[in-house]
Amino acid sequence: MLTKFKSRIKSRPSMAGSTGEGFPEFLAEPRESFPHGVLVTNPQQSSLAQLTAKCMEYVEENLTHHPAILFRNLPAKTAEDFSIIAREIPWKALTYEGGNSLRQKIDENIGTYTANNDPDEISIDPHNEMSYNNVYPSKVSYVKIQSSFKLKPLTNVSPFHMSIAGNYEIVRREGIQENQYPSHTFYGDGSDIEPAVIQHLLATAWSCAVGFKWRRGDLLVLDNLAVQHGRLGFEGDRKLLVYMTT
Ligand SMILES: [Fe+2]
Repeated sequence: MLTKFKSRIKSRPSMAGSTGEGFPEFLAEPRESFPHGVLVTNPQQSSLAQLTAKCMEYVEENLTHHPAILFRNLPAKTAEDFSIIAREIPWKALTYEGGNSLRQKIDENIGTYTANNDPDEISIDPHNEMSYNNVYPSKVSYVKIQSSFKLKPLTNVSPFHMSIAGNYEIVRREGIQENQYPSHTFYGDGSDIEPAVIQHLLATAWSCAVGFKWRRGDLLVLDNLAVQHGRLGFEGDRKLLVYMTT
């Protein structure tokens, strides 16, 4: 069901650690059941809300064994469609308060956001959503929709308020000091983590990762404690929305 594709990631521009030691040559293709693909058949015979409710029943039964489930072929084309989906997701919504990525609220009442507003070419390291925060989501749902919805202009966003791990090279290039980052990670005793260790973590995370190509109408539900997610920098007009829940 998932398109196989092979993407070279070694020495990829705007990808932290890609020129360093141990970094894998390619991003691996999807493995059997990772992500676990579910094709929605005859989507025109039910409403989007009914289809989503069925998908969520499936998630409740299977997420323990399949912590990344990709539903394909949902009739979701707009941000409003994602609000309909989010309403059927049975867990409590979580805001992005305390989050450190550029992300824009889409539906204030429901709690949907753009997945990430970083420049398209930036790759984002595999991570657990908001793992640096005291409050973080247990489950994260992403949907790929049509690109032609209007975003309000961003306000009050510092150009450096971005996902630092994913933008390490830019941060270094721009000469931003560590104490200017919105967040930072140390060893337990407050000492710095050595660059070689960070390189090892990045290389290991990408070595374990698999990639797939999004299609419009894809809904990806992740157990945020069991799996990580990231992205490759891209070209084109991809639009992903996110809904985070307890
Ligand atoms: Fe994320």
